[in-house]
Amino acid sequence: MDRMPIMAKRIGIIGSGAVGQTLANGFIKHGYEVMIGTNSPGKRDGLSAKTHGKAKIGSFEETARFGEIVVIATKGSAAESALKSAGIANLSGKTVIDTMNPIADAPPVHGVLKFFTSLDDSLMERLQKLAPDVKFVKAFSCIGNALMVNPTKEAKPTMFICGNDAGAKKEVSAILDQFGHDVADMGGVEAARAIEPLCMLWCIPGFLSNSWTHAFRLMK
Ligand SMILES: NC(=O)c1ccc[n+]([C@@H]2O[C@H](COP(=O)([O-])OP(=O)(O)OC[C@H]3O[C@@H](n4cnc5c(N)ncnc54)[C@H](OP(=O)(O)O)[C@@H]3O)[C@@H](O)[C@H]2O)c1
Repeated sequence: MDRMPIMAKRIGIIGSGAVGQTLANGFIKHGYEVMIGTNSPGKRDGLSAKTHGKAKIGSFEETARFGEIVVIATKGSAAESALKSAGIANLSGKTVIDTMNPIADAPPVHGVLKFFTSLDDSLMERLQKLAPDVKFVKAFSCIGNALMVNPTKEAKPTMFICGNDAGAKKEVSAILDQFGHDVADMGGVEAARAIEPLCMLWCIPGFLSNSWTHAFRLMK
């Protein structure tokens, strides 16, 4: 895929967990202006410390307004309400990187996570239906947060992405290239039905043998 220069410099990250913090520090390292969003006021000071005072801290809504590109990294079951609270109009026409997985609250079975979606559905399709004008791109969902930013591995991990907007996928591919990943574009939003369950596979060695440092690579 051709790479396009990254024009957007302001990144809004909706989600204050490990993924939100890791990507915030990654974007800061690569020279972007970052706002990280939480709707829990009590987390603000901690987030400022975790991003070494270099990220702005806002609500989900302020973060959606701030970002030229927005990352959404909330708990999967909270994604639809987080999107509404960010304000769909604030995201309209923007590239939104969806890192989330539809993990159910029920515990894993022999290390296999349970999802609240079926194989004929995905979380990103639900979000795309809720917000048709948002250019969602699935990315960062199939790897642990410790390996999201310039992982030091013998080979580059493959990041499986999908989404309906070719321009948005080029923008996200350029970011993934900066972050040290090979990109495998699996097509339109429906491909999230296949990409999201990679999280189940990725987590099995973690749950069964506390091994969390692997990554997928697509051999061509
Ligand atoms: N952890 C990983 O290594 C990893 C790797 C790949 C993909 N993912 C996916 O990335 C996403 C983020 O994962 P994470 O581990 O960083 O964090 P997480 O604990 O799954 O999510 C934290 C975020 O979810 C929000 N949230 C939780 N419950 C909510 C609710 N009921 N309503 C609105 N917002 C709610 C929190 O909001 P507040 O800030 O307001 O508290 C916080 O911003 C998940 O979907 C996960 O499956 C995780």
